[in-house]
Amino acid sequence: MAKKHDCVVVLDFGAINAQLAAKAVRQLNIYCEVLPYSAKVERIQALRPKALIYQRGAACGERTLGREVPAETARLGLPVLDLATAACDAATLTDFLVGTCRLSQDWTIDAFIAETVADLRAQIGDKQVLLAMSGGVDSSVCAALLHRAVGDQLTCVFVDHGCMRKDEPRQIAEVFRDQFGIHLVSIDAEARFLARLVGVTDPEAKRKIIGEEFIRVFEEEARKLGELDYFVQGTIYPDIIESGWEGGKAVKAHHNVGGLPERIDFKGIVEPVKYLFKDEVCKVGEALGIPAAITRRQPFPGPGLGVRCLGELTKEKLDILREADAVFRAAMDARGYAAQANQFFAVLTNVQSVGVANDERTYGYVICLRAVQTLDFMTAKVVPLPVEFLIEVAGEIATTVKGVNRVVYDITNKPPSTIEWE
Ligand code: XMP
Repeated sequence: MAKKHDCVVVLDFGAINAQLAAKAVRQLNIYCEVLPYSAKVERIQALRPKALIYQRGAACGERTLGREVPAETARLGLPVLDLATAACDAATLTDFLVGTCRLSQDWTIDAFIAETVADLRAQIGDKQVLLAMSGGVDSSVCAALLHRAVGDQLTCVFVDHGCMRKDEPRQIAEVFRDQFGIHLVSIDAEARFLARLVGVTDPEAKRKIIGEEFIRVFEEEARKLGELDYFVQGTIYPDIIESGWEGGKAVKAHHNVGGLPERIDFKGIVEPVKYLFKDEVCKVGEALGIPAAITRRQPFPGPGLGVRCLGELTKEKLDILREADAVFRAAMDARGYAAQANQFFAVLTNVQSVGVANDERTYGYVICLRAVQTLDFMTAKVVPLPVEFLIEVAGEIATTVKGVNRVVYDITNKPPSTIEWE
């Protein structure tokens, strides 16, 4: 991208809002990349930047203060916008980048798609490609880009670990196999996962088992497909920026589907969205015709409902949770509250309580509803949903979902709580 468009390099001095300037530059349809302030001058020059932005100063956090760029970088003689003294608003960026530096505003979503598709074709040639489809935005957009680039040379594998939300496996097949015509192999591995999880109650043990089993199932399926040359990874730009600071490799720490299949040999890795921020990935998805249900999908943990169904995971409990969660989500959508929350879901507490139905005593599970607003998922605020709405939804869940007779709402922010219950 840097070679085809005017490029700006944002030098990050360890800012608390490290991606803010870069996102604002890209909003102007100008391509930029983020490098640590101490990056070697050759790394900066390789991008052939037309301007530099120093992301530092009081507004960028304590630890950026007093840090200086290496002398070689300063000697490049490029125009510099130093956020130690300038404001990071659009007007200032536009004045500098468009007014002073005269950069072209031609880095658009359509340009990204056309260039990425051409690059993928050149990289892959006539080789075969494998993609682990999670149903999340990143893997979905990668699948659509790869399919546009190499068509039937792409095979997607979706493993249903039995902890997906209601109807999700069916929706994934409908969108990618039926609408897009992608070669999608769906594996119903629910029974196999649940067999491994019998008697397991510790949340971290559940996560570990689901992650490991996922890789095992995926590897088995990949072997059945015969020789495949490339493996697609849905790495996105924040993963790379953050790993750059630690000097680490650009591999997603919390890969949504549990990690890479390490025991399969691939000729190479393909990472079509590795220079995009999350909101850009969503826009590419929309432009490629992926339905909003997927491009606007909330973050969903790799172990899925496994961390929302407390205690041992059984099919009975997961089915109850799936139903309750579906009722809550439908009500949030129907009443327009979904737009106020970044994440909302139901949790099946492992608590059972006494209730009454048709003049008879019942003994059922307590479902907890959670809805939070958050910018970065590091901190989160409870959405103050109207109590009348909550009473209505509670009534609907407790009367229509068999096995549930009580519903509560979680009113704790993060911190001190976490967003998920496990
Ligand atoms: P917490 O519960 O730590 O969650 O406040 C913060 C964000 O991370 C998601 N999350 C996970 N994502 N695997 C994932 O891929 C996991 O094991 C996992 N645990 C939490 C959570 O949904 C929220 O968006």
